[in-house]
Amino acid sequence: MQEPAQDRPDVPLPVSGAAGSPMPQPDLHAVLGEEAFWRIARAFYARIDRDAFLRPMFPADLQEPIRNQAEFLIQYFGGPQHYSARKGHPRLRMRHMSFAIDVAARNAWVACMRGALEDAAIPEPHRSAMMGYFERTATFLINREG
Ligand code: HEM
Repeated sequence: MQEPAQDRPDVPLPVSGAAGSPMPQPDLHAVLGEEAFWRIARAFYARIDRDAFLRPMFPADLQEPIRNQAEFLIQYFGGPQHYSARKGHPRLRMRHMSFAIDVAARNAWVACMRGALEDAAIPEPHRSAMMGYFERTATFLINREG
């Protein structure tokens, strides 16, 4: 069964405006600027490239994954919807089903992203807010026992 949209970490929460909806997170796209998300995506995949455990899951050329991740994050954190214009709804769980994600893979992914936020010099409190989102989403994407 499909979870309600507001409970699914791949569906952006409303960032402002809708009557009666609280502002659940600052509009990080506006706060940090678009370039910050490209820095994160490049730093993240530079770490994936050096990660012997996760590297084999990804294609040889990481340019497309970098673009996918940057555009997804820009969209999720309140910026333009270029990701969905190009690829449709994120459906992260479905898009990750072909990759074997157990707890070890989830933790390795989270460690790469934690390092990437540091490499990209994302300031607090935004760094911790983003890490919370990544940790929840990575847990939601576990699709294998292990
Ligand atoms: C839990 C561990 C995870 C693993 C092992 C993993 C692995 C992968 C792999 C192998 C790809 C294919 C590369 C590509 O074509 O772009 C991918 C794509 C992607 N991942 Fe993950 N991922 C994980 C978690 C996450 C999380 C937590 C997020 C977001 C918060 C995320 C967002 C994405 C996005 C946006 C794409 C591009 C999908 C597409 O447009 O085709 N992933 N991931």
